Amino acid sequence: MKKIYITTPIYYVNDKPHVGHAYTSIACDSLSRFYRLMGCEVFFLTGTDEHGLKIQQSAENKNINVQDFVDSVSENFQSLSSSLMLTNDYFIRTTSENHKKSASFFWQTLVDRGQIYLDKYAGWYSIRDEAYYQEDEIVDGKAPSGSDVEWVEEPSYFFRLSEWQEPLIKFYRDNPDFISPKSRYNEVLKFVESGLRDLSVSRTSFTWGIKVPGNESHVMYVWLDALVNYLSAIGYPDVSSESFKKFWPADFHIVGKDILRFHGVYWPAFLMAADLPLPKRLVAHGWWTVEKEKMSKSLGNVVDPNEVVSEFGLDQFRYFLLREVPFGNDGDFSRESLIARINADLANNLGNLINRVFAMTAKNFDGKIPGYSDILESEHALQNKIIDLVELFKKHFSATEFSKALSVVIEIVSLINKYIDTQKPWSLAKNENTSRLSTVLRTSLESIRVVSFLIYPVMPKSSLKILESLGFQEESLSFSPEKINNFNFLSEDWVVKSLDLLFPKIDKNIS
Ligand code: MSP
Repeated sequence: MKKIYITTPIYYVNDKPHVGHAYTSIACDSLSRFYRLMGCEVFFLTGTDEHGLKIQQSAENKNINVQDFVDSVSENFQSLSSSLMLTNDYFIRTTSENHKKSASFFWQTLVDRGQIYLDKYAGWYSIRDEAYYQEDEIVDGKAPSGSDVEWVEEPSYFFRLSEWQEPLIKFYRDNPDFISPKSRYNEVLKFVESGLRDLSVSRTSFTWGIKVPGNESHVMYVWLDALVNYLSAIGYPDVSSESFKKFWPADFHIVGKDILRFHGVYWPAFLMAADLPLPKRLVAHGWWTVEKEKMSKSLGNVVDPNEVVSEFGLDQFRYFLLREVPFGNDGDFSRESLIARINADLANNLGNLINRVFAMTAKNFDGKIPGYSDILESEHALQNKIIDLVELFKKHFSATEFSKALSVVIEIVSLINKYIDTQKPWSLAKNENTSRLSTVLRTSLESIRVVSFLIYPVMPKSSLKILESLGFQEESLSFSPEKINNFNFLSEDWVVKSLDLLFPKIDKNIS
């Protein structure tokens, strides 16, 4: 069985989760669900990043003990995991004892391999980005991200990043698919080619972090600590443990474009230095603005995913995020586009298809799944097109092209709607042509069943509702061709259960 290891970044616990966090998590969850149906053993990891100055300051500003603060914010992220129906196999916290041991071991390995030395740091640091910046990166006194920077001078351990410049370049060239989209690959390559300096990997001016082994006046740089979470969660430092052997190297690190440098440069360099295999793919997604504005607390436009879910529904939210923009591009989160997308694709197209086919089955066959009698070219043509499109869906999804994969699903739905419009089952019923009527409805029901499989990764709730009314449970779901492409999947003994409206149409004028 093929093993797949998928990770989200671990989220800073300085504030409540927002739509940007939900986006990365939903993408990873959908990818995990997809690979499970492809027959793979998946390990899907998410969690919280709980150290560093930013978090220490957030707790101090609220006058809360730092540990109590991170416990409560991490809890918000864990409960978001369940309200978004994430199927993560583990939730890692960097304040856990296991992770601290793992990060300390990793540090010591770098020391033992001559990769870390003590010196002094003098330069710019952004607390919001938890990142060091070079003098030539500072624009009008700010970090390239627009964050404030402060001048820092303190004793610091350094990682010999500069030694890894050539091995990194060779690695990128040998593995052109390591980073996607291509534009991000080029960005990373250019950055590394422009020269790497050794990286400061410890701080002495605050205490909220993992203590440096052997020198407790230093805490580890939060990014070194955080990146190691991907190893800790699967058993590191026990590299001979079953889970580590099974799942390392990771197959997909999915991250936002803002944290590409850490994952595309520092992380592979750390791993090479520790003599561990490198992850296979790093996928960088774009950023969401809200009604065309950057999302920010000061603008008061931070979107709470729980509120969107309670107003529009979980599947609708998940679908919108993954369908609206190609993964990798930036997108704008607006009520208008959310409503337009739900109404066009889900209410009018998919919802309408299910309603009419289920209603006709109820009316003409008392809901019993009809058998095929005379299968004509029209049925063969539809089935063959669907089978081809299922392959295309898989190709897109496995390449994290969620939007393209979902547009394939909508194409299938439109084809089925068109098939029904052409076959006119209502006329067949009127003319008492029962044999054609049963064939047309059976073909439509089987095609809807295919759609219910395909929407599972992104819209698990609706998928399971459709499937259940057709007489199946989650265990029947599979993307293996024998299952998904089997147009004799449904049982003629089953009476289709009526469904509540899956995707109610939303009134555009609601505010
Ligand atoms: N703690 C680090 C990651 C460490 S991983 C070893 C971190 N955390 S974060 O909470 O700031 O961001 C987590 C993820 O949320 C990132 O992938 C980031 O890109 C994503 N997003 C935060 N705001 C976003 C938007 N407005 N839009 C889309 N994604 C955004 O970085």
